[in-house]
Amino acid sequence: MSIGSKIRSRVFADRMQAELALAGEIAALVRAKPDAVLGLATGRTPVGVYRELVRMHGEERLDFSQVVTFNLDEFEGLAPDHRLSFRRFMQDHLFEGVNLAPENTHLLSGDVASDEAPAHCAEFEERILAAGGIDLQVLGIGLNGHIGFNEPGSGVDSRTRRVALHPVTRASFEESVGAEAPTHALTMGVATILEARAIRVLALGAKKRAIVRRMLEGDVSSDVPATFLRGHGDVRVLLDAEAGA
Ligand code: GLP
Repeated sequence: MSIGSKIRSRVFADRMQAELALAGEIAALVRAKPDAVLGLATGRTPVGVYRELVRMHGEERLDFSQVVTFNLDEFEGLAPDHRLSFRRFMQDHLFEGVNLAPENTHLLSGDVASDEAPAHCAEFEERILAAGGIDLQVLGIGLNGHIGFNEPGSGVDSRTRRVALHPVTRASFEESVGAEAPTHALTMGVATILEARAIRVLALGAKKRAIVRRMLEGDVSSDVPATFLRGHGDVRVLLDAEAGA
């Protein structure tokens, strides 16, 4: 079902159906291309997708031994083993449950000094290119329309870089984990994301309904960086009934 945009979107009956559909597409890609390059997201939204991939690995022998992953972003100031780092999140929700080779999992590092961030981000982009580019990028969407940590104001040409986090993003973090949010992060840029061959956006719950509608139907503008996805040829949006109502 389309809700009025050139991006294809589909509304599923509930969140589990949306999660299973996205996990199924990732699994189909990995079976067809065992050395697939996946772009991964963190946040509450993709947790069920990763749970299903772990189940498929355990029960259906879904093999990640040659898969390569790149994550969208990481908080500045959090060491990789910090309980709130995105590296920790990925370890807990996916990496420890499947047979990914540790050297094939790439995340920006939260503990590089800010003056070293440009070189670190450039090297991350080079690693994506050296891997042959991202086959399928999983995205969530922030309440302010961010993708990765490309906050409002991020340009369509932006590359992987250090960014200041938006108040809405920091408040959402503080509400969900009950700890003070970092002020900065490193994130793939909008242009970096748009170079993925396929992009799948998952948005769940009533709180995402308004920003999903702006992504699909609002003016394309850096005010809502997710609207830049409309310039990509292979984007699909997976919604539960609440986000797609
Ligand atoms: C996070 C991440 C995004 C994510 C978004 C929504 O902080 N940087 O990649 O899509 O914010 O998070 P959630 O899925 O928890 O709503």
